[in-house]
Amino acid sequence: MSQTHPPRIAIYPGSFDPLTSGHVDIIERGARIFDSIIVAILANVEKKPLFTENERVSIIRDVFKQTTNVQVETFDGLLVDYAQRKKASVLVRGLRAVSDFEYEFQMALMNRHLAPGIETVFMMPDEKYTYISSRLIKEVFMLGGAIDGLVPPIVEDKLKRKQAGKKSR
Ligand code: PNS
Repeated sequence: MSQTHPPRIAIYPGSFDPLTSGHVDIIERGARIFDSIIVAILANVEKKPLFTENERVSIIRDVFKQTTNVQVETFDGLLVDYAQRKKASVLVRGLRAVSDFEYEFQMALMNRHLAPGIETVFMMPDEKYTYISSRLIKEVFMLGGAIDGLVPPIVEDKLKRKQAGKKSR
């Protein structure tokens, strides 16, 4: 017996400043499971990002230009309100290590309190990415360390351009 269900739309929210290979791994896994996955970049945060919202959108769109069920958008306000507007039933979050768990657990339960119909699904990236974070990538790069393989080539390229722009000023 065949059953039809509405398209299963997932949201993968985050700052993505910048996109790392760990994020890419999670997005690819999500795209295989869900009918579509929306990478939702948090906009209008107070902290000063390295990449503008537009830069982050264009980087992620470029990396996933061949994957038709991956969309990239920005959002502000409550994540669950955005998810409801997009008719998404799932929030995807990556879990790298136990240290991520407490914060993620709090967010998942708060989001469930706010919107009981939306489920948070945790996914583990390949273990080779478990130690990567956007914050560490920025720090290591700025201090001259190698980050190849830890971010998509386009991100490394853009980081180098930003650094070259700073030096020539
Ligand atoms: O990449 P990050 O910083 O781990 O992502 C955090 C994010 C964007 C998922 C979280 O800050 C968020 O959902 N912000 C939107 C505002 C909101 O809904 N806050 C309540 C979350 S329980």
